Parts: sequence; C-alpha cells; structure tokens
Amino acid sequence: MIDHPKARLAILISGRGSNLQVFIDACASGELEADIALVVSNKPDAAGLQRATRAGLATGCIDHRDYATREEFDQALVDALLPLQPDLVILAGFMRILTPVFIRPFYGRLLNIHPSLLPKYPGLNTHQRALDAGDGEAGVTVHFVTLELDGGPPVIQARVSVVAGDTAESLAERVINREHIIYPIAARWHLQGRLKLKDEGAYLDGDPIPPTGIQYHENLA
Ligand code: GRF
Repeated sequence: MIDHPKARLAILISGRGSNLQVFIDACASGELEADIALVVSNKPDAAGLQRATRAGLATGCIDHRDYATREEFDQALVDALLPLQPDLVILAGFMRILTPVFIRPFYGRLLNIHPSLLPKYPGLNTHQRALDAGDGEAGVTVHFVTLELDGGPPVIQARVSVVAGDTAESLAERVINREHIIYPIAARWHLQGRLKLKDEGAYLDGDPIPPTGIQYHENLA
C-alpha cells in the first residue's frame, strides 16, 4: 500500500484565532486531509496561540517589533516556514502587510480571508464602511495573495444581508460565521489540486473563477 503523506498547512495569525480553530477542527475531523505544521503569530499575546498549543501544534512568535523593516520581518517568516515545505499557507487574521520577500516564495499557495465583498473595502474597518455606505449586503472573500494588498484574485465569497439596526459588531458576528464555512472550502479545493493561480487569475477545475469569486451556496462541493 502506498502511504500518501498528508498535506502540510502553515497558518499565520495575529489575534483571536477563530478561523485557525476551524482549521484545527477540520484537520482533526478529516474534512481537510492535512496537518498543521506550524502556527505563527506576530503578536506574543495572540489568543490563537493558546488554541494551537491546546491542540498540540507547533507554534512560533515572530514579533514584527523586533525587525527594523517589513522585509526583514518577512524574511524571518520565510526562514521559519520554508523548511517545512507547506503545501498551503493560510493567513487567518494576520494583520501585517506582506512584502514580495514573503509573497514570492509562497506565490500560488498563499490564501487570505478578508471581511468584505472584495473588490469593495480593501483594508481595515470593512463592516463600518459597508454600513456608512448604506450597503444592503456585506460579506467575506477568500482570495489568493498577490503583491497588491487585498487585491489578489478572489476564490470564494459569501454574502450576508445588512439588517436595520446593524452595527459593525453585529455584522461582523454574522460574517464570521460565513468565514468559518468558506475558508476550509477554499483550502480543500487547493489541497485537492483543483484551485490554481495563473497569470490571468484564479481557476477552479480548469475554469476561470469570476472576478468576485465563486458565490457560496449550501450545495457547493
Ligand atoms: C476575520 O474577520 C478575518 O476575516 C480578518 O481578521 C479576522 C480574524 O478573526 N482577516 P480570527 O482571528 O480568525 O477570529
């Protein structure tokens, strides 16, 4: 019998780590046929590090404040991750802008989740900006990371309605539930070899993914 080694994930976090927890659970249940090789935070007090430790995972903290430039910080990340040869690097609430020093070595195997319906609202405070604009819906996008901030090709997107009385917090709560559904789907597609980043954009099963990503629905396989 040929023993296929499991795929390896590296996950970068900065905070609470609820998306990280979803990956921990998905790997444990077999929903994702992968092991988490390393969880790295740029913040020593990130609650997600405790989640990782509780799950028995290898963790590291690379504190961006210890580096004079973004590039030096990114090189330290590369040095930590590259020897592990991750099949996929997951940015899960990682709140640092990455430079080409990090993006190039992991190009095509680097995913981020951003809490807006990209290309709307790259950057911060996405839910408040959606409310201020009077948008009828908000949402979340998983996208490939390229050199453009929050500008890499979307893979999958989930929408929620904005309801009367919504605050940034209430909206964030509904959106995070969708985040937890769509991020493992995108990761699974990638690990199955179905999701590719090409010069022209993202592809699923050989077909170009629309510019706003595949729209989530309950029967998505
Ligand atoms: C999520 O809303 C994600 O979209 C954004 O940062 C937040 C991280 O939450 N990039 P958590 O740390 O995974 O709970």
